[in-house]
Amino acid sequence: VESLLAAGPLKGIKALVTSGPTYEPIDPVRFIGNRSSGKQGHAIAAALARLGADVTLITGPVKLPDPANMRVIHVETAREMLGTALGCLPVDVAVCAAAVADWTVSNASKEKRKKDASGQPPPIELAANPDILATLSEKGSARPRLVVGFAAETEKLLEHARAKFVRKGCDWIVANDVSPHSGTFGGDFNTVHLLTQGGAEEWPRISKTDVAERLAWKIADTLKGHP
Ligand code: CTP
Ligand code: CA
Repeated sequence: VESLLAAGPLKGIKALVTSGPTYEPIDPVRFIGNRSSGKQGHAIAAALARLGADVTLITGPVKLPDPANMRVIHVETAREMLGTALGCLPVDVAVCAAAVADWTVSNASKEKRKKDASGQPPPIELAANPDILATLSEKGSARPRLVVGFAAETEKLLEHARAKFVRKGCDWIVANDVSPHSGTFGGDFNTVHLLTQGGAEEWPRISKTDVAERLAWKIADTLKGHP
């Protein structure tokens, strides 16, 4: 294993990957989450490791085993994910594939919420979560050389992805069709476009493993020769 890791085009490159959903607690037994499987993010971490990168995978709760040959850190909330990601810097490349909850429950209770005599459901108040991709993309000495985000969209894929690209300040966006007919969410295949400063590349419908492989090689090509 050691000698396999020592070879490869990403030898000496530090990579950070976020994957999976985040869970935002409502009370000690309940949370707001989403259906992200973590398959794509985990596959990217594995592909980067296969090319020799020193990978840290930060993952929300998923049903997948920890991939081999990397450091895996398990978190629950968006805030924990951000804190852990910042703690991993500096890295050469960051890939934010996690489906981070956009909101956290600001009135989460320490004790389990109980039904009361009124029969009314209790209010759930939401507050915005920090944006991990945008934070990592901020200019500064600790900014990774390459920051890659995902844009999961159910409609107007390229239009929404382009807007996200500009708003987040990242270098690449993998635009991901997650509409129900695409069958991508939770499935094994993905239909993606890669957006860079240079424009958009359409990738054929390929497995998430192949998307990961292709992305990892593209990362290697980009970082190679630009130490
Ligand atoms: N992302 C993140 N932190 C957040 C929200 C999103 O790091 N709090 C990252 C995701 O990992 C992904 C990218 O931002 O790489 C886009 O996520 P997405 O949910 O598609 O974008 P949002 O900006 O949250 O917009 P919306 O959900 O309204 O489409
Ligand atoms: Ca979102």
